[in-house]
Amino acid sequence: MDIALSKPNLDIEIVDHLRECIETGWVSTGGRFIEEFEHKIADYVGVSNAVGCQSGTAGLHTALRILGVTAGDEVIVPTLTFIAAVNPVAYLEATPVFMDCDADFCMDAAKLRGFLEEECEVRDAVIATDSTKHCEGLKQSGIPHNHSDYTAEDGSRLYNKSTGKRIAAIVVVHVFGNIADMETIMNLANLYNIPVLEDATEALGSYITGGRYAGRYAGTIGDMGVYSFNANKIITTGGGGMIVAGKDRCSDEGVSLQSGCLADAKTQNAQRIERARYLTTTAKDDGLYFRHDDIGYNYRMLNLQAALGVSQADRLDEFITKKHGVYARYAELLSDIPEVTLLPLKSGIRSNAWFYCLYVADAERATFADKDLVGNTDNTRDKLMAHLIAQGIQARPVWVLCHKQSAYTTFKAYDITQAYDYESNVLNLPCSTSITDEEVRYVCDSIRSYFSHN
Ligand SMILES: Cc1ncc(COP(=O)(O)O)c(C=O)c1O
Repeated sequence: MDIALSKPNLDIEIVDHLRECIETGWVSTGGRFIEEFEHKIADYVGVSNAVGCQSGTAGLHTALRILGVTAGDEVIVPTLTFIAAVNPVAYLEATPVFMDCDADFCMDAAKLRGFLEEECEVRDAVIATDSTKHCEGLKQSGIPHNHSDYTAEDGSRLYNKSTGKRIAAIVVVHVFGNIADMETIMNLANLYNIPVLEDATEALGSYITGGRYAGRYAGTIGDMGVYSFNANKIITTGGGGMIVAGKDRCSDEGVSLQSGCLADAKTQNAQRIERARYLTTTAKDDGLYFRHDDIGYNYRMLNLQAALGVSQADRLDEFITKKHGVYARYAELLSDIPEVTLLPLKSGIRSNAWFYCLYVADAERATFADKDLVGNTDNTRDKLMAHLIAQGIQARPVWVLCHKQSAYTTFKAYDITQAYDYESNVLNLPCSTSITDEEVRYVCDSIRSYFSHN
């Protein structure tokens, strides 16, 4: 057997869309599919607009710039993630501060609080209080709150005490389709006036089911959010991304959505989306004479890419349902193998169940023994992985932690523990929506046979 980790969900209708691009000549950054795809994704996640771009990485780079990150700033990022969540910080000549993950693989909100409270200080007096600028709607409501508006110019005034650098943004990654503890993170971000960029590249379709953000989709809670349509994502355009801005500051305090601050938030979201469209299309101010009043990027999504995405967008819920079904089957078939645990999908959300995580107990090593190694840990997880690969099963380890990657070893990594454990002991299992029951059974039998012989 040959079982891929994650196969694209491409159907035959796509060929007609590609033919239309070729026959009409709309193969580049113009054409009907781009807008259609943007509208479909925006509608699905419940925001008014979205901007298609060439990749999730391009989207993250653009959004961080819009949120005001500049050279010399610090940006808080997770260490357990794909490197593309971190590199855009470096593109802007800012530096990362690495955070640990929680049991659900996402940024540990308690540790984030610890870092902000203990290792940072407010300077220049713009911690948000009733005396600073805030929503008119909240003012009128008389409800106590601690919001303030910010722009690239008057954003965070929180500084890292040891480096003296400004904490300009937080990048929250919703890893494997889980959603980070957004209530705690947004409370902290609002308190310190720090913009939040949600890297929702892996979590398109995941939403929160309880609490203050019930019904809100990953990517639409922070200041800006980004999705990816890379080949292994739940929807793929080969390569591609989408930028959204959905922050609704009023809902943080449970204030009526009718209040004036909803209008403020909508305006700010619209401005950010407009700016994203502008920056991703080379900051072109005049399409005839090609005048550019800013330095933009050639990041716009291609019509060819969008042509691949439109019909998949209509099937997103169907894909998610399939992924949940496959997850349940793995859970059933693996339940009698004591050496492994299929980690749960996060509770309190409807996960898109993008990737499944198998925790492999390691009898031979202490949990954090692989702290300083980069790859080739040769523990039980890796031996099982080698066995599965030899059986034609594409299993994959969790990424080498970002703070251990050569370019980032000199930057602050705050109290990392859980991420080391997952880095050493977690394996991603094949999770294509098209995987058959026979294939799932084959994967589980191969895992069982490894442990019966070792
Ligand atoms: C967490 C995370 N961030 C960013 C990206 C970058 O997206 P892209 O490959 O579309 O640039 C990916 C996936 O590829 C990812 O998994």
